Amino acid sequence: MKVQLSAARIKEYLKYQVPVYVFDSIDSTNTVASRLAETGAVHGTSVFAHHQTKGRGRLGRSFASPSGTGIYMSVILKPDTDNPVQVTTAAAVAVCKALETVCDVSPEIKWVNDIYLENKKVCGILAEAISSHTTGKITDIILGIGLNLDAEALPPELSEIAGAVEGDFSTDHLAAEILNQLLDILQAGDFIDDYKSRSMVIGKTVSVYKGGYSPDSTGINAYVMDIGHNGGLMVLYSDGTRETLSSGEISIRL
Ligand code: BTN
Repeated sequence: MKVQLSAARIKEYLKYQVPVYVFDSIDSTNTVASRLAETGAVHGTSVFAHHQTKGRGRLGRSFASPSGTGIYMSVILKPDTDNPVQVTTAAAVAVCKALETVCDVSPEIKWVNDIYLENKKVCGILAEAISSHTTGKITDIILGIGLNLDAEALPPELSEIAGAVEGDFSTDHLAAEILNQLLDILQAGDFIDDYKSRSMVIGKTVSVYKGGYSPDSTGINAYVMDIGHNGGLMVLYSDGTRETLSSGEISIRL
């Protein structure tokens, strides 16, 4: 499938009247969206690209964005909350609901915000906050979503862990539905139950990597008891101690 989005077609599926930009190739949709936010773009303004030359992932990683093989998008949000984790949690639910509706698949969420299908990561989410120079308060959150739609286009070294959502659906519809769901969920505010019902980690033992996962770091085994109201992972260690982890620099492996 060659992804060829059109702002006009995306708008046909949108419930919200928000500015939509589609680029062929840019460095990163998050970078372009940040610039737009700094010049006063409204809540919900969205930037899509068919190709990113410097796609960013969490924890300083890069995000592979081969041309025409995924939906790479960033949404400018003016949050009610000071907590970007709430926004990533909401985004994970929005992507799942959009995939369920448009692609008829049943994705799962690996805490904190990776979307999995058949045990492979198909989507990553990166929220970056912009703060006011004068007050220090968060004025905008740039929510970046990268969704793979072509497994063959992924770098071979990722083939074990990364997958794609493939099938016969309109990519413009999917792009718009992600945005519709996201803006709906943020407006309604109560999404933790929808998040938990799609979680692939509750009730499982995971390895916790403080400082982020790297092949030479050692994880601590922990049993996931629950996910708290603000998205924290509530774990029980083998020595009986409990902790609520917030995303930051922590990675988990199943
Ligand atoms: C991750 O899994 O580490 C997060 C990946 C986020 C990738 C998306 S693609 C669109 C947006 N622009 C970027 O540079 N990154 C995000």
